[in-house]
Amino acid sequence: MRLETLQAPLETVRAECVAVGIYDAGELPPSARALDKALGGRLKTLLARGDLSSRLGETQLLVDLAGMKATRLVVVGLGAARSFDRRAWRKAVAAVLAAVLRTRSTSLALGIDRPASLHLDDYYFGRAVAELTHSALYRINDLKSGRKPRPAALATVLAGPLTEAGVASARRGLAHGSAVAGGMNLARDLGNLPGNVCTPRYLATQAKELGQKYRSIKVKILDEAAIKRQKMGCLLSVTAGSAQPPRFIVLEYRGAKAGAAPVVLVGKGVTFDTGGISLKDPSAMDEMKYDMCGAASVLGALKSAAELKLPLNIVGLIPAVENMPGGRATKPGDIVTSAAGLSVEILNTDAEGRLILCDALDYARRYKPAAVVDIATLTGACVIALGHHFTGLMSNDDHLARELTDAGNRADDRAWHMPLTEDYAEQLKSNFADMANVAGRDGGAITAAAFLGKFTQGMKWAHLDIAGTAWLSGAQKSGTGRPVPLLADFLIRRSGHGG
Ligand code: BES
Ligand code: MN
Ligand code: ZN
Repeated sequence: MRLETLQAPLETVRAECVAVGIYDAGELPPSARALDKALGGRLKTLLARGDLSSRLGETQLLVDLAGMKATRLVVVGLGAARSFDRRAWRKAVAAVLAAVLRTRSTSLALGIDRPASLHLDDYYFGRAVAELTHSALYRINDLKSGRKPRPAALATVLAGPLTEAGVASARRGLAHGSAVAGGMNLARDLGNLPGNVCTPRYLATQAKELGQKYRSIKVKILDEAAIKRQKMGCLLSVTAGSAQPPRFIVLEYRGAKAGAAPVVLVGKGVTFDTGGISLKDPSAMDEMKYDMCGAASVLGALKSAAELKLPLNIVGLIPAVENMPGGRATKPGDIVTSAAGLSVEILNTDAEGRLILCDALDYARRYKPAAVVDIATLTGACVIALGHHFTGLMSNDDHLARELTDAGNRADDRAWHMPLTEDYAEQLKSNFADMANVAGRDGGAITAAAFLGKFTQGMKWAHLDIAGTAWLSGAQKSGTGRPVPLLADFLIRRSGHGG
């Protein structure tokens, strides 16, 4: 996909397709007005006749208009001018891309104006166009046996309108957006794979492939014996019932000098979560193949960082396991010892994510990290709290939390900062071990974070609960690639490489 900036007047652009937007009540934004002039008032006439809809996201295709070079014009409704915000802009651009893909045009010139009220500077404009384009082109990596649909014809997108002053930033944004999209696509593909394909060993192979593709990434895989040597008793308790051997994946991205403290990303890699002996209800259990989306987002973020050659050191840690019931499986009431030495009473084997993460977070300590961020499809309670729009964010460091929420806002991949105080940790008391792995239903997303918090003392740490945001259900069932955009933005800023 070639992504370039667009400055030329729309009527002169040599692209197969041009797109403009129109507001409610026949109001034309500047670039549509200029094009309309070149077309001899054709758009105004069609509007007056009621032949063009300005409903947000509705598109209409006009062809062979006299006065412009392109043979196709897609007019997209933008809704009311005063409520035209970033969300609306994204919706309009996505609608245009879908319409253009149907026409099988090979090139598109995007001419939807951006009013100042959008709060979208040229750099983020470029990033958004790149991300939206790649996501419009994304096809689920299905295992259907029929003929594959024809690949998309669209090969060039010219992003505009832009002024001369904005071109350099927008170009940078387009390049960064493509790198982020590459990371998102990897995360989506891994999430969409079924649990019988995407096993802990498969994730390890994927990590190794990243290490082969990018010389800046070194990969180390710990097998079961090595995991035992690390005394990761909590992780091992989760994998005990599974026939799939566990893997502990370490990726080290070197973009800065050796001594620079790294950012450590820890991703939950449960390749399938049956709940174990605390077996889950069958409804929608298939979606627990997505329980490795935290791991996938770590691989995606590292891929983006390596692609952008970010001057930063980053470590990715992925505890990869399958959570199954069975004769050797861990039982409610069993007590195990974590790598950090704390004993844990496992009251519910379905609260397994925190068990693999606590051993990985302890492993992070050896890097003396500048910051640790874990990413996990950790709790159904987080979905109850925030739905599918915001990722849950909990942290022991308000500055780090702010950095991450800001990154999410800029990247349109938002997270909501939730409280995390000692009150919640008290709910984890056990009569038999240092702590229990569950604390009842109330505040479930936060008590899960409080459990992790016991293992991150002395480190700047944040936890992203992506249970509601990593994939979509129903007819649109697919991985979303979130929160790769948030993570990439966070890393880009940390490296001083923003727009
Ligand atoms: N992977 C699940 C969380 C989950 C559930 C994510 C549904 C997305 C949709 C996690 O391992 C889990 O089972 N959590 C339990 C914790 C409980 C036993 C304290 C949950 O949320 O029910
Ligand atoms: Mn579970
Ligand atoms: Zn789980």
